[in-house]
Amino acid sequence: MLDTINPYMPAYPVEPPNFAGRKQVLQSMVEAFKYTSHAKSLNIAVVGEWGIGKTALLLKAQEIASKEFGAISFIIDVQSGQTSDAVLHAIVQKFLHQILREYPKLGLPAGGIREMKSPRLDRIAEQNEGNAGYTPIRFESTLQSLWEAIADKDRIVIIMIDNLEFLDKQELFKVVETIRNVFQALPRSGCKIMAILSGKKIFYDTSAKLYSPTARFFRRITLEEFTEQESAEAMTLPIREISDFSISKEAQAEIHRLSEGHPYILKAVCFSAFRELNGKGKLTPKKLSAIMPVIVDILGNDIFGPMLDRASEEEKKILFAFAKSKEDTLSFSEIQSRAKMSKRGTHLTRLVEKEIVLRTSRGKYRLFHPLFKAFVQKKMG
Ligand SMILES: Nc1ncnc2c1ncn2[C@@H]1O[C@H](COP(=O)(O)OP(=O)(O)O)[C@@H](O)[C@H]1O
Ligand SMILES: [Mg+2]
Repeated sequence: MLDTINPYMPAYPVEPPNFAGRKQVLQSMVEAFKYTSHAKSLNIAVVGEWGIGKTALLLKAQEIASKEFGAISFIIDVQSGQTSDAVLHAIVQKFLHQILREYPKLGLPAGGIREMKSPRLDRIAEQNEGNAGYTPIRFESTLQSLWEAIADKDRIVIIMIDNLEFLDKQELFKVVETIRNVFQALPRSGCKIMAILSGKKIFYDTSAKLYSPTARFFRRITLEEFTEQESAEAMTLPIREISDFSISKEAQAEIHRLSEGHPYILKAVCFSAFRELNGKGKLTPKKLSAIMPVIVDILGNDIFGPMLDRASEEEKKILFAFAKSKEDTLSFSEIQSRAKMSKRGTHLTRLVEKEIVLRTSRGKYRLFHPLFKAFVQKKMG
């Protein structure tokens, strides 16, 4: 029986009221909203590895923007293998949808999109349903028309595009280039519209490489692991109204240490701990270490196992070399000899792209998380 809903669901981005820390990042966002409200949009690229809190940040930013800037905002969730056109169509579709939700009078009460009263929106909807692609000019004029349909010009519009790393290079290039061209021009016609792009580092690096002005056009926000204070907040905020369950300060510090402040892993550890204790009592370091093997098993089953399964045989050799090694970091040549890897290191590059292996600032390599290392070690027996 489920007595209390587990408040640490790692698979869902945290609800905005339980959003922990990231004070500077949020300030930076608010600053961009301010500029946009003066028709001088500042566009943002949120960059960070898997599970670091990109989607959670977008949701939090939506909440703030709606409260403080009356923002109309929506998130496009990019799907793997999507074309750039599909992404642009999704933007128009969601924008339209959002306007109709907030200004229902622009549409007939029970009608479909085609029956809308406003001729302008009707035309946009129809065009968007057609298969014609968007040239930058047409995309721009469509966004302009949508902006003009908004009654209250004190509002701002924030278009968020999440998981951009899912696009193939060429499609990513087209999306980023179109957004850049169009969003550069929009403020000139008084549109208070800004874009927030979000994705893993590979998305940013790829688009910056293909199109160098990207770096100048988007203000980059890089999400890092939680500080100890942020970890503590992330652990305590979700249980502030639950009286039966708590985590001692010492256990909080230990969970921060074990998870290295990685938001997803931290939440997953708390989720398992809460479950193991049936949502009752105080989690202490002693209780934590007793249930740690179970927690590692759960992490292995839910996250690390599938990651390892997705690695090719050659890639696995590299992962095993890391797991066998006493040191956490290895140099290229060490990996090469221990995993019998080719000189070009293609498989290592793939692992870095997948963010299973990280390249450290000193040009060495390490597994993305020590608990993953423990898991691979266990798998090897
Ligand atoms: N600032 C935060 N406060 C509390 N929990 C967070 C925060 N950022 C991320 N999380 C949690 O970490 C996990 C991963 O976050 P998510 O936004 O899904 O990462 P990403 O989109 O980068 O893959 C989720 O369970 C989320 O609730
Ligand atoms: Mg996400």
